[in-house]
Amino acid sequence: MANSAENDKKTSYVLIGFMGCGKTTIGIKLSYKLRMVVEDTDKMIENKYGMKISDIFAQKGEPAFRDMETSLLKELAEKNRQCIYSVGGGTPIREENRMWLKQMGNVIFLRAKADTIYDRLKDDTTRPLLQGENPREKIENLLAHRKEFYEDAADYIIDVDDKSLDEIIKEILAL
Ligand code: S3P
Repeated sequence: MANSAENDKKTSYVLIGFMGCGKTTIGIKLSYKLRMVVEDTDKMIENKYGMKISDIFAQKGEPAFRDMETSLLKELAEKNRQCIYSVGGGTPIREENRMWLKQMGNVIFLRAKADTIYDRLKDDTTRPLLQGENPREKIENLLAHRKEFYEDAADYIIDVDDKSLDEIIKEILAL
């Protein structure tokens, strides 16, 4: 039985990476290819608490959101489902979260450069951490701070800049 649980775990995928790196889109496409369920932890949190992420940040604050993330990850790690997960860009910051992510499956870091992220998110209004003055600087600072956490959490790293969705999926399937 222990072996079968171990095998199940190995066929799950967890997509991590900065906001705008493509986790949600790549997760959906991968789910078609692999015929596996895809779950987005931000959406799960929105459904569970009946609030948009931006409202959670505004009304309850970022630390409360981070606690919601950690408690959801723990639940998911314990369920040990065969699944593709895409998780919020800040999830790997907490050491405890990195442990749960590894238990959830093979962790794939979708690495994007600041230029790519800025191009994609410069007009975005849904990410609380990038609102206000100078989003470009915010992206660079957050990326620099998070780099080591993404790398520490990752089993695999895929560079996504200047690649088509199909190219990225091909690389993931070849891992
Ligand atoms: C966050 C990323 C967002 C969401 C929240 C915080 C972050 O998810 O969890 O706004 O800290 O990077 P996406 O990476 O899916 O945008």
